[in-house]
Amino acid sequence: MSDPTFDLIVIGSGPGGYVAAIRAAQLGMKTACVEKVKEGWGGTCLNVGCIPSKALLDSSHLYYEAQHGFATHGIKTGKLQFDVAAMLERKNAIVKGLTTGVSGLFKKNKIEKYQGTARLAGGGAVEIVNGDSVERIAAKRILLASGSVPIELPNLPFDGETIVSSTEALCFNTVPKRLAVIGAGAIGLELGSVWSRLGAEVTVIEFLPHIAPTMDRGMTRELKKLLEKQGLTFMMETKAKSADIKKGKVTLTLETPQGESALECDKVLVAVGRKPCTEGLNLDAAGVKLNERGRIIVNEKFETSAQGVYAIGDVIGGAMLAHKAEEEGTAAVEMMAGHAAHVNYDAVPAVVYTHPELASVGMSEETAKEKGIDYRVGKFPFKANGRARCMDEDAGLVKILADAKTDRMLGMHILSARASDIIAEGAIAMEFHASAEDVARSVHAHPTLPEAIKEAALAVDKRPIHI
Ligand code: FAD
Ligand code: NAI
Repeated sequence: MSDPTFDLIVIGSGPGGYVAAIRAAQLGMKTACVEKVKEGWGGTCLNVGCIPSKALLDSSHLYYEAQHGFATHGIKTGKLQFDVAAMLERKNAIVKGLTTGVSGLFKKNKIEKYQGTARLAGGGAVEIVNGDSVERIAAKRILLASGSVPIELPNLPFDGETIVSSTEALCFNTVPKRLAVIGAGAIGLELGSVWSRLGAEVTVIEFLPHIAPTMDRGMTRELKKLLEKQGLTFMMETKAKSADIKKGKVTLTLETPQGESALECDKVLVAVGRKPCTEGLNLDAAGVKLNERGRIIVNEKFETSAQGVYAIGDVIGGAMLAHKAEEEGTAAVEMMAGHAAHVNYDAVPAVVYTHPELASVGMSEETAKEKGIDYRVGKFPFKANGRARCMDEDAGLVKILADAKTDRMLGMHILSARASDIIAEGAIAMEFHASAEDVARSVHAHPTLPEAIKEAALAVDKRPIHI
């Protein structure tokens, strides 16, 4: 083995990598973190993912509300205008603030930063390539946290201008008149919402019969209706076959259940998923095995098939979510330090940040059925929730699944304003193995949106008060 300069080298500074590096430093490990994107501390999440998308979602939501929501509160606005450049500048400033923050946390925790593309060089060594220069560092352990990149459709390759990934769709400097979105997953629905709120005609093309396919079907049906009311058009069970680009305009040839059709648009956002980023890491030579989907195989300690090499986050299996990557990063280094740690994958919340937001934790009804679990369902609509009425946010509902015999909560699904915030109650309930009755008996402040959770929990036992 080469001389270990470090206890741990983390490759990738996304939410998985940077959180792991900080936790490792807290545990007394001499830690380095390598990031290939210049000043890209924070990875996909902070630079081109969670944060910039939410910044645009929040700006575009305010604009939409000013147009469609203020009047019912008695607020008159006159002619509204918006400035895309100012919105993008605000988004960029938020990203800059947070990425600088990660850099500051590295300094505070004495984590050595390396800028360049890392590759495994065997025996605990890592080579960092920067143009022609190659620097070599080494450690007792290496943690791969190299994340993921957008999937390209072979028949619709990215050109960075007209057929784009989420990265470019976060930076359109004018509102496209007609935007086609391929894929009705989280990215398609979120960025489709942003540009639709700002005035684009958005058509979402999805090859499955339902949107957000990993979420509870009953909930996604409700969300789809609300998005349609907001002006998004959905073409379900439809595939984009090819694109013909002439003078910056695109004609998509689509295969629909009714046969072939054409769709004219100005930009195409391809959002059909992301794939693990493993290129150039030299994994094969290092003995790091991948599964059939190209994700790094790890055991319950996040150890790969190569000794001393670990992996976490989007580059391994499971949901591609920032908070899942963070938890894995923390658990992996805690186990390296000899602590007991684990990630409870049954209690990882997921959110689609449309308006209203769709949030869930635990099982969907479809999963409960597949597993043959006997369950009870409690639902409560926000139209019967006082705070939702005051906010003029009475669309949506809470749905809770509980085991029919033990009453243990199996899943919680929320379609509402700020569902992303209030799903935390569900995650804690799942973590503590709460029963629906536990949730129902917990005192909820009045008037608040989470009172709908208490009522849905009461509804599991067929005794909601307000409906
Ligand atoms: P990443 O964040 O992808 O970071 C990996 C880092 O490794 C990158 O910075 C990359 O440059 C670097 N790297 C790769 N290879 C090398 C190498 N050889 N050498 C050095 N560095 C390397 N998730 C949520 O939970 N909530 C959201 O709201 C959300 N919104 C999203 C919105 C968009 C538009 C996108 C694209 C994603 C979103 N995600 C969201 C997903 C989330 O961004 C990812 O799940 C998360 O970033 C994964 O973290 P990670 O640390 O595994 O990898
Ligand atoms: P996704 O996997 O969430 O959704 C992709 C969608 O595209 C699916 O509905 C799929 O059926 C459809 N699809 C696939 N191929 C297609 C084709 N050829 N034609 C038409 N439809 C097709 O992927 P997405 O939205 O690109 O997001 C990537 C990852 O980023 C996801 O894993 C997601 O978890 C994460 N993310 C999370 C967010 C959040 O937590 N709010 C926000 C954005 C991304």
